Amino acid sequence: IPNKKILLLPGDGIGPEVMAEAQRVIDWLTRAGRVRFEIAEDLVGGASIDAHGRPITDAVIARALEADAVLFGAVGGPQWDAQGFDNRPEIAILELRKRLGLFANLRPAPVFDALIDASPLKPEIVRGLDIMIVREAIGGIYFGEPRGIETLPDGGRRGVNTEVYTTGEIERVARVAFELARKRSGRVTSVEKANVMESGLLWRQTVTALGAAEYPDIHLSHMYADNCAMQLAKNPRQFDVIVTGNLFGDILSDLASMLTGSLGMLPSATLGAADGEGRRHALYEPIHGSAPDIAGKGLANPLAQILSFAMLLRYSFDMQEDAALVERAVSAVLSSGMRTADILQAGTAKIGTRTMGDAVLRELDKLGG
Ligand code: NAD
Ligand code: IPM
Ligand code: MN
Repeated sequence: IPNKKILLLPGDGIGPEVMAEAQRVIDWLTRAGRVRFEIAEDLVGGASIDAHGRPITDAVIARALEADAVLFGAVGGPQWDAQGFDNRPEIAILELRKRLGLFANLRPAPVFDALIDASPLKPEIVRGLDIMIVREAIGGIYFGEPRGIETLPDGGRRGVNTEVYTTGEIERVARVAFELARKRSGRVTSVEKANVMESGLLWRQTVTALGAAEYPDIHLSHMYADNCAMQLAKNPRQFDVIVTGNLFGDILSDLASMLTGSLGMLPSATLGAADGEGRRHALYEPIHGSAPDIAGKGLANPLAQILSFAMLLRYSFDMQEDAALVERAVSAVLSSGMRTADILQAGTAKIGTRTMGDAVLRELDKLGG
């Protein structure tokens, strides 16, 4: 049995609540004798600020670098608003992505059949929907220089952020999108604002050239980000793989989550480049945040966190069967009518985080016990 090292970083707010349910799924697989996991856990975000004065410590970065995979919860909350901007909880996730070189953030948005009428869109618009957003995660306006807030001679102030992309950064994330498309329906939509931004123009030119040179079998199209937001609501099934920059990817994936019924459903994988032996750093996290409005109440939907663990099995450990097993268990739970309160669906009883976790374990017992 392979021995795999997973670092759990639950974070703040609902992070620890949903992580606890993912951990029960990890324990279930271990009990089933399918794999031996070596689990470690550490602090990030506000929890790390409280303990160490910093949103993430070098020791945690070192543990993340050493782990086979990182499972991350969520960070942030109003109790840390008074922190200086350079010490806010959100730095933990940004720094992990950066220090581990995790440039490709995969955000799948599949619609579960049982949730078709949970979407605010009409059933015929979302039925069978399965979008994969590939978001660049360590470049663009999130990291570009110059940045900062400065005082002007007239006493006013100026806030500065800079959108920057190099051809190398664009090519490596586009390659991930093209490769994924090859295993899916063979379509990539590249999203930017080449009509307004030079970085967007370079993005379009670079993706076009790469597609022509290395992926002639993939159908590549281009779309402006504003139109893409509209098209996601109008006719989301036109999309298969969407590749886009850091900020647009952040926004469009929250939008895509509502097509599927709830932000509390969507997992993600953030991957680095493979080394000579095919090993790569990877971090898995729900796309939602720490949800301070419901934290501590046991109401959070743990399925995005559990599905993030399924992605970990798939992408880091190549455990396709176990990943599919976890996903089937989630699907079965939804088919049986279980809903947390974030899923807007008439006529369904609302259950809490732990009860939802119980239901997933019960389905695992049935399917794979
Ligand atoms: P959020 O994603 O935390 O919450 C948005 C809304 O969705 C809230 O109403 C929340 O209750 C609901 N929601 C989110 N996840 C849910 C779940 N699993 N189950 C049920 N309901 C859920 O976004 P926000 O309110 O804009 O941000 C809150 C904090 O989280 C901020 O500090 C923000 O910076 C941080 N954040 C962190 C991450 C991360 O750690 N990766 C991601 C996004 C936001
Ligand atoms: C996400 C979050 C983060 C981001 C924040 C918390 C830094 O919104 O993972 O989607 O903007 O990348
Ligand atoms: Mn986000």
